[in-house]
Amino acid sequence: MPQRRTTFSQFVAEDRRRSGAADADLVGLLNDVQRACKFVAAAVSRGGLGARPAAAAATNVQGEQQKPIDVVANDIVIKTCEWGGQLCGMVSEEMAEVYRIPGEYPRGRYLLAFDPLDGSSNIDVNMTVGTIFSVLSAPPGVSEPGPEHFLRPGREQVAAGFAVYGPTTMLIITLGAGVHGFTLDREPGAFVLTHPDMHIPETAQEFAINASNERFWEAPVRRYVEECIQGKAGPRGQDFNMRWIASMVAEVHRILIRGGLFMYPRDTKEPAKPGRLRLLYEANPMAMIVEQAGGAASTGRERILDIVPDAIHQRVPVILGSKDEVQRLVRYHQAFDRGEDLVFHTPLFNTRSLFRGDAVFAPR
Ligand code: F6P
Ligand code: MN
Repeated sequence: MPQRRTTFSQFVAEDRRRSGAADADLVGLLNDVQRACKFVAAAVSRGGLGARPAAAAATNVQGEQQKPIDVVANDIVIKTCEWGGQLCGMVSEEMAEVYRIPGEYPRGRYLLAFDPLDGSSNIDVNMTVGTIFSVLSAPPGVSEPGPEHFLRPGREQVAAGFAVYGPTTMLIITLGAGVHGFTLDREPGAFVLTHPDMHIPETAQEFAINASNERFWEAPVRRYVEECIQGKAGPRGQDFNMRWIASMVAEVHRILIRGGLFMYPRDTKEPAKPGRLRLLYEANPMAMIVEQAGGAASTGRERILDIVPDAIHQRVPVILGSKDEVQRLVRYHQAFDRGEDLVFHTPLFNTRSLFRGDAVFAPR
């Protein structure tokens, strides 16, 4: 008799039944999403074997280089999720406009926003990438959604998740009551529940930030990083490790397992862009997952899930992970905005580098 294992499809169906909100459309949609992730995992794992060497590099709506595999992953998600009758529209990092469900298929009441291949700048070097997704309800009566129908605060997400294509392929999901992790068992081709009720430790010993942007950071972020770097001898009284994989799915996954802080904060590198990461299909789903796992997610000045979006490809600053660390950074932003963070206000500070360790702060 084989041991009974809970698969993703079974988990989602039972979760809806338990919550009293039995919803065949949502169950069907999430089933299609998990199938899409398996296809993307297969495409990604073929690497150079599956590449189309002659494919020309293109540029996506955000002016970023699109790799052929980004486009392949985007097509997979669309083709796997458009036919089932649960969706009336999709937004993807790789498409400028809202994707409407073709006329040959029935329309449903859900909206899907997704990043088909997050961290894809890592694909050439065989590092972890992933797919991020967010599910919203369409307003009643809407079957041909426009961008405005996607512009809902993240707290209204019905479900959010990501797949991470690393040494193992995992799928992480929240339906608003906890966070659960599934590992792809390739033989039967099933996502099996291996990490029920994931919980982020409240304190942390690791932080992740692209430190090459140091000169563009705002003072509160400089202060936080500098205090971490001072380690035991500094105001935090403990040593920290720094990590930067340049793949948000991998960083968030690490934080779900062992805690820590991830930041892509506001900076002055491109003043027209208030951050690097996109609200609808990166920040919002990750913020919902992190909060559901007991962590926190903020721009530094606002809870991410409370932001009312004004554009489908809007960017936001992102600070997420262990609750105590996020709250500390929020306090540093408040102090700075009140003009209390004097050391970091002085022009002198801006001539110093975090990595020379010559800035001085009073512990709080
Ligand atoms: O999708 C954006 C993204 O690739 C994230 O996965 C990652 O955290 C970030 O960009 C990496 O940015 P950078 O290239 O500046 O390190
Ligand atoms: Mn991305």
